[in-house]
Amino acid sequence: MRKATEFGVGLTLLLVAGGCGMSRYEFEPNRVYLRAQENITRVELSPVQRQDIQDILAFWFGTPDEPRFPALADVPMDEILDLELLQAAAGPVGSEEDGTNFGVYRRNCAVCHGITGDGIGPAGAFLNPYARDFRRGLFKYTSTLGPMTPPTDQDLRLLLERGMPGTSMPSYQLLADRDLDALVQYVKYLAIRGSVERALIVESVDHLRDADDRLVDVDFDRDSPERIAAALAELTPLISFLARPWLDAPSRVVEVPPRPEGWDSSEAVARGRELFAGQVANCATCHGDDGRGDVDTVDYDDWTKEYFDPQNPRRVHEYLALGALKPREMVTRNLQWGIFRGGSEPEDVYQRIFHGIPGTPMPAAPIKDADAPATDLRLTTDDLWDLVAYVLFLSSSGDLVANGSVASSNVSGQ
Ligand code: HEC
Ligand code: HEC
Repeated sequence: MRKATEFGVGLTLLLVAGGCGMSRYEFEPNRVYLRAQENITRVELSPVQRQDIQDILAFWFGTPDEPRFPALADVPMDEILDLELLQAAAGPVGSEEDGTNFGVYRRNCAVCHGITGDGIGPAGAFLNPYARDFRRGLFKYTSTLGPMTPPTDQDLRLLLERGMPGTSMPSYQLLADRDLDALVQYVKYLAIRGSVERALIVESVDHLRDADDRLVDVDFDRDSPERIAAALAELTPLISFLARPWLDAPSRVVEVPPRPEGWDSSEAVARGRELFAGQVANCATCHGDDGRGDVDTVDYDDWTKEYFDPQNPRRVHEYLALGALKPREMVTRNLQWGIFRGGSEPEDVYQRIFHGIPGTPMPAAPIKDADAPATDLRLTTDDLWDLVAYVLFLSSSGDLVANGSVASSNVSGQ
């Protein structure tokens, strides 16, 4: 028997039903994205059409207490998501007598990331940066090629173990192995569920013309599950399309090349400094020549841009009323602080420069192919290592830079 005995810090603030360990947590509809799409298309969904979206999602993905996912003909969903681990992450907080934990997401994460993974948990509005909204399926600190390619399980696992220094995202390295694996599964689940919801919203505003039009002609309360599943079959390509990249992610990993000999020598730092300020790498435009550019960019991250139009700022109130968080300008990083959210090993910094930071203004560095002619000005992997050396030098010797004695010492301080 599963016992609902303990509740995560802050979560007691939320509505918790008494009785046999069941709770009344529900997934929240993505009202902000719906309104944004309605404003673009000038179509307003009827209450029935909105309810259909939630009913379809519940049929496919279950509830916060009982997660599930549909079997698809073309994508093996059980290779992407592990149902047993999902169930361990979901539901009310509790544990078996043998110490196996349940509800690990609700205990550890929901206070910031929200039950729905929308980043608007009870503490959400007070954090800076805001906690991640998983529902776009967009992540910043990945090892995979392409801004829209999801992270691998290992990327997420590493992130949980490390936390994100300089943000409120804590390290969970003390959790049991199984709990960490369950959390990785649950983040993927919320991301896939959230992106399917977005796709259903787009499908609805694009195709439903009259208030009586429906995405599917079923009665979710009365029809048999078989009948509902058959009627929803024509919509499952949406899930396949959004889930497949998670299956392919491991094949999109870009291995970091080994550190070259002398990668952190003062010569490498000097070369890195030149590249950093130069026009090809273009780092200084945002970070300043000395890396201290912790300035507002007058730009916003992709999560915010989805509903906030800086050209039309007054409209934001409409979204705030629906639960959106107040837009905050993106801040570039002061690299002299030496705080790396995606990890501070040289290989981590290499990855950040190589991939950029998806969802933010920081672009992937322009890399040239191995067989490109010498006239191709784009960067080589050795150039990237020089940039890594300079970035790490900046943070270990920020004061030296400020005093004008740049690159006089070895990065690793030997
Ligand atoms: C105290 C608040 C807080 C808690 C608790 C918390 N997080 Fe976070 N989390 C954050 C913040 C803030 C960010 C975003 C930082 C940023 O964008 O730079 C974040 C980002 C993330 C990311 C995105 C990483 C990426 O590559 O983009 C993942 C995944 C994540 N958290 C998972 C979790 C999980 C799983 C838990 C529970 C085990 C958890 N978080 C608990 C605050 C929190
Ligand atoms: C268009 C502006 C822009 C350019 C160009 C740019 N960056 Fe950034 N960079 C940012 C922003 C914004 C962030 C913070 C992103 C965040 O916090 O989510 C950042 C963060 C970083 C970080 C911190 C990573 C971490 O793990 O926390 C490093 C390192 C970095 N940049 C290095 C570079 C280097 C090296 C270059 C040149 C190859 C470069 N940046 C070019 C905007 C830029």
